[in-house]
Amino acid sequence: MEEVSGRGMSPENINFDSVPYIKTEVMKDYDPEVYKKAEEVLRAGGLVAFPTETVYGLGGDGLNPSASMKIYAAKGRPSDNPLIVHIGKIEQLRDLVAEVPESAKKLMDRFWPGPLTIIFKKSPQVPYETTGGLETVAIRMPSHPVANKLLSESLVPVAAPSANLSGRPSPTSPHHVIEDLSGRIDLIIDGGDVEIGLESTIVDVTGECPMILRPGFITEEMLEDLLGEIKIDPAILKKPQKDFHPKAPGMKYKHYAPKADLTLFSGDKDEVVSHINALVKEAEAMGKKVGILATKETEGLYQSGEVLSLGEREDEKSISHNLYRMLRRCDEDGLDVVYGEVFYQHDLGLAIMNRLSKAAGYQIIDLKKPE
Ligand code: TXA
Ligand code: MG
Repeated sequence: MEEVSGRGMSPENINFDSVPYIKTEVMKDYDPEVYKKAEEVLRAGGLVAFPTETVYGLGGDGLNPSASMKIYAAKGRPSDNPLIVHIGKIEQLRDLVAEVPESAKKLMDRFWPGPLTIIFKKSPQVPYETTGGLETVAIRMPSHPVANKLLSESLVPVAAPSANLSGRPSPTSPHHVIEDLSGRIDLIIDGGDVEIGLESTIVDVTGECPMILRPGFITEEMLEDLLGEIKIDPAILKKPQKDFHPKAPGMKYKHYAPKADLTLFSGDKDEVVSHINALVKEAEAMGKKVGILATKETEGLYQSGEVLSLGEREDEKSISHNLYRMLRRCDEDGLDVVYGEVFYQHDLGLAIMNRLSKAAGYQIIDLKKPE
């Protein structure tokens, strides 16, 4: 990873409370004025939150350095963590990237518009404020009809991270965005709940072999089918170490975390359930408010505590759809401690476990292993 210093981009330079109050307008996606208003805000360097098929994004003009700086400030996000630039038409790529490798052409043909972000070498027009000082730029063409209409009609390349305060679970409903960003941004487009619920898959095509930097709805298997060989950043399921440099800088931060202390358990179903039941009793006896991240198969087996079901274990799409909403519920309901089950780490399960492990701060206990 290229390091850029002297640009004032270290995390310490972000002051959460320095954002001036802005009156935030919330408009429904079917309001006839919404696209015109959103384009006006973007062109004036302001910020618009909008729905995508993965999670809500917090958008600003990606070619306007001051708009990108505003995004970091509104989220309280370290500015060495680069933003994804969203486009509505393929022609927009020309101004944004230095070259389009063969593998990227195949990926775009197959998966755009859709939940896939591709890392390219950046063109000189893209400011370092947008790329967190990197020489590469992340580009995505979302398929959500509201995002797609906004991007393809305005033709503004929109830099947009997820529309949550830094460290909170990504927003999957307009209420999450209002909760986190009201008073900090100009406009929120309310397009209802999103479908996928986990952020896009990120693939870097700037090296010899394409590499997955963040797992998502487009799985390793789908990418391998299309491209043949594909690598996966080994940092994806590992706890960040001191000298830890995942290729997507954002992956090193503690993300998605509820305020409660979350611990996950792996092992046989019955063993996990009875272990969690015992721990819940203990914690409740100590006066703690306890939650359980369960599945449809186990929700009826927990004897006490607040049971939050993520859906059927085999139905990974519903688990991914519900995960962030349930992590936010942990906060809304004021839980002190939460226990949860783990999922298989293949297909969409890899993305689910990547996000869940981070939320748990990598506290995962294998009940099969002797202590
Ligand atoms: O589904 C999504 O991707 C959503 C919606 C709004 O499109 N966006 C999103 O953005 O998840 P954000 O900022 O929360 O995550 C962007 C990730 C970060 O981990 C960041 O480090 C990585 O993309 N990234 C961005 N530009 C990069 C680059 N040039 N090289 C490597 N990683 C990059
Ligand atoms: Mg994010």
